[in-house]
Amino acid sequence: MNLDARELAATFDLEKLTPEFYANPYPTYRALRESEPIKRLPNGSYFLTRYDDLVAAYKNTKAFSSDKKKEFSPKYGDSLLYEHHTTSLVFNDPPAHTRVRRLIMGALSPRAIAGMEPDLVRLVDRLLGAIAAKGKVDLIDDFAAAIPIEVIGNLLDVPQSERDPLRDWSLAILGALEPVIGPDAFARGNKAVEDFLAYLEGLVARRRAKPGNPDRDVLTRLIQGEDNGERLTEKELLHNCIFLLNAGHETTTNLIGNGLVALLNHAGEKRRLIENPDLIKTAIEEMLRFESSNQLGNRMTVEPFELGGVAMPAGTPVTLCIGAANRDPAQFADPERFDIGRTPNRHLAFGTGAHQCAGMALARLEGAIAISRFLARFPDYALDGEPVRGGRVRFRGFLSVPCTVSQGAGELSPAS
Ligand code: HEM
Repeated sequence: MNLDARELAATFDLEKLTPEFYANPYPTYRALRESEPIKRLPNGSYFLTRYDDLVAAYKNTKAFSSDKKKEFSPKYGDSLLYEHHTTSLVFNDPPAHTRVRRLIMGALSPRAIAGMEPDLVRLVDRLLGAIAAKGKVDLIDDFAAAIPIEVIGNLLDVPQSERDPLRDWSLAILGALEPVIGPDAFARGNKAVEDFLAYLEGLVARRRAKPGNPDRDVLTRLIQGEDNGERLTEKELLHNCIFLLNAGHETTTNLIGNGLVALLNHAGEKRRLIENPDLIKTAIEEMLRFESSNQLGNRMTVEPFELGGVAMPAGTPVTLCIGAANRDPAQFADPERFDIGRTPNRHLAFGTGAHQCAGMALARLEGAIAISRFLARFPDYALDGEPVRGGRVRFRGFLSVPCTVSQGAGELSPAS
């Protein structure tokens, strides 16, 4: 390893990131993996970049806690943001986590997800029709961001006319999870939780009065609970509905946006996918690995733990760098190569272990339908300006990707 790389690792601080890092974090991740894979940061936390170390932490829920009550208390004080994040299942440990997860997994059943496919295809084709009419488009606003927001809207059966604020609420609440936030981001996040809760209270009251079909409507299913009488409390219900929207929104937008940009940057792989549409499943896995939309996870040790020769006392915050682990050569052959046919591909984009993403089947379905139908209709899509990065370290994606599209030979009719 050259001196620059060693320097990059030695000076790395998650709280002081450079524009070069935001543009391309992978050289830094590589330097860390090679020279300081269990990096102690100036604030006393550890930053992990090796695949095996992430798996060890993810799989050990006894030593590595997801409960964020202690950690979020100084950051959020006694605020709605605090109440929201500490009630979300992702930031809880067993037994609270196990109970809430069982209810959510029951609602996101394979049957419920398979039932969403026809609506999803119609939605994607409607968006593609609108894009064709425009010729010049923003891949994010006009396509990638428009899909998950509708899918989660359908999942909770939010009336169409009430969906407008959902995206901004979600972005504001997730924005407040960045490692460092200013007073504006904090205020925006709190206001978003307040407005979202007020909206959901009304929606839940209407749904209690007039339940939907629990096989299709996740909100009805969550309200009714399981046959054994297990139910969410009102507070758990409202905050976990907000969490579902947030968890499934920006991450999936970024999967679609990052995937379409990765194909633009790898013309050979783009051609390969157009010529072999059956590769869409492995292509989506590779997009998830190569530009993971959720780059960081967090845990806190609750008992002394030794990892890779480093002794961590109880109470040590640990950041799990998914973006780095997914390019670890000890796990992936030629990891910097974007290969849409890569197998095996046991990436960590959805985490692993007890908290593994509860919506991954839905995210995969959205990604596959969106990207395969986009490519079939617009195989010659091309950049029409510089893509703008989202500027976040945790959620990696684009704010805008200006493109031109022209109809392809294999054009699909909007109804097909
Ligand atoms: C490409 C899209 C997505 C990515 C990359 C992603 C990534 C992740 C990751 C890394 C975790 C684990 C967090 C941890 O262990 O600390 C997670 C958890 C979760 N995700 Fe996703 N997610 C995606 C889409 C979705 C969707 C569409 C939904 C639901 C509609 C969803 C719902 C959840 C839930 C409920 C959890 C918490 C599970 C638990 O704590 O037991 N996600 N996701």
